[in-house]
Amino acid sequence: MECQMKIIGKEFKKIIISFGFFTLVILFPLFAMQAETTFKHSVDSSGEQEFGSMAPVGLLLQWQQDPTTTMTIDWHTTDSQRNPELEYQELNDEEWHTVQSTSIGFPFSKDRIIHRVELTNLMPATKYRFRVPGVERPYKFRTMPDNVNKPIRFATGGDTHVGEEFRKTNRLVAQYDPEFVLWGGDLAYANGDPRQIERWYDWFDGIMESLITPTNRMIPVLVTIGNHEVFKYERLERSGADLTEPMRKWGLEDRSARFFYNIFAMPGSKGWGVLDFNDYMSIFLLDSNYGIGTTNPGEPQTKWLKNALAERRNKPHLFPVYHAPAYPSVRSMEKKAHPRVRNNWAPLFQKNRVRVAFENHDHTYKRTYPMRDGEIHATGVVYIGDGAWGDVGVREIASRQEIGRDDLTEDEYNHWFRDGAEWPFYIKKGKSVRHFILVTIHGPHQHFIMIDNNNNVIDEYPATSRPETLKSITEEFD
Ligand SMILES: [Fe+2]
Repeated sequence: MECQMKIIGKEFKKIIISFGFFTLVILFPLFAMQAETTFKHSVDSSGEQEFGSMAPVGLLLQWQQDPTTTMTIDWHTTDSQRNPELEYQELNDEEWHTVQSTSIGFPFSKDRIIHRVELTNLMPATKYRFRVPGVERPYKFRTMPDNVNKPIRFATGGDTHVGEEFRKTNRLVAQYDPEFVLWGGDLAYANGDPRQIERWYDWFDGIMESLITPTNRMIPVLVTIGNHEVFKYERLERSGADLTEPMRKWGLEDRSARFFYNIFAMPGSKGWGVLDFNDYMSIFLLDSNYGIGTTNPGEPQTKWLKNALAERRNKPHLFPVYHAPAYPSVRSMEKKAHPRVRNNWAPLFQKNRVRVAFENHDHTYKRTYPMRDGEIHATGVVYIGDGAWGDVGVREIASRQEIGRDDLTEDEYNHWFRDGAEWPFYIKKGKSVRHFILVTIHGPHQHFIMIDNNNNVIDEYPATSRPETLKSITEEFD
């Protein structure tokens, strides 16, 4: 109970008082959860992973098709056996169904194999359990509801890195029982470099250990590509690292991202795509020009995005997610991918009724004003980011002193820091802190609570009013 009270927090209480509906949404899983906060994953009967055994050393749930009726399950082994079987059943069923996996080599790995099944024709909003060889306690998953008549919650953020902070944020997120987690790039920070393969192993260890609920439900993950998924000559040259070895040994080309394209099973085949949740939500997983994606008009991804958004503009919930922000909180607004995303994608978002876009990369928390055609406007798109989930160095928000004059011309500087603004004028709220974004959709409504990795609420959008009449509803849950 002490643990639960800490999780709720003083500030959080203030906010939930204001909004009875979200009280139910947030508090229910907290009260339902077990008091223990150390989650154990079942590996094998001894609790130890064995080299060469069939016990999974990685486990990842993803979606390639409609999450209301499908689930893609990957598990990694160090055993040489190919195409092992996975068993699954509805939670209340006696009968187990058996599916054979497809096996692919983990890129650049000598001993790790990825086994993949895609379960289809599942029932919406239904709990399942599954087991793979070497696992004693079955894992669970649940499919997404096929409508949004009841609240649906997911968590998003980016720049996860590996290590303890990654696990800490994951554990906290898992306590909120989200349907899935959406990460907008810069995942294991292996930089597409085979010499850093251990980072991917660590990243998968972290997911198995911490992105799981107390009832052994694995939380599905959706990802996009970031710059740290990509092998870049420029970065290696800058750091003085040896370029010839990976070139000679693995034939790596500039901007290749073999880990990313092979490890993940995404909707679409080019490193970007859209995932349709029946007719109520579409999530656009975009490449802000790090891999083979492109952000300019006339180029494949932007052409595709224009049509994909237009086809879905009457759906209530459209969420683009990508790595480099249109409205950065730290870096120059006029360099690299930022102006391209802002000039080429933002007009498509606003034209097709996107309300909120998720951005990453700058390692801060930021929320913009609603932005339309580069200006604050009531009907604009709100950009929420900027990627500080795990062990990344959290940065200071760009201040007029810190953005170098070298990064902006005089006119640009006067534009972005207009009227003597300390921060770029588009930033409504900002904080230098690790965090995640808890998204709730319900009917046509969207609500966002931003939580730091010490479980303090740092922002809420839209802000809710706090009528005293709702207090009694909240007290029932205290
Ligand atoms: Fe990044």
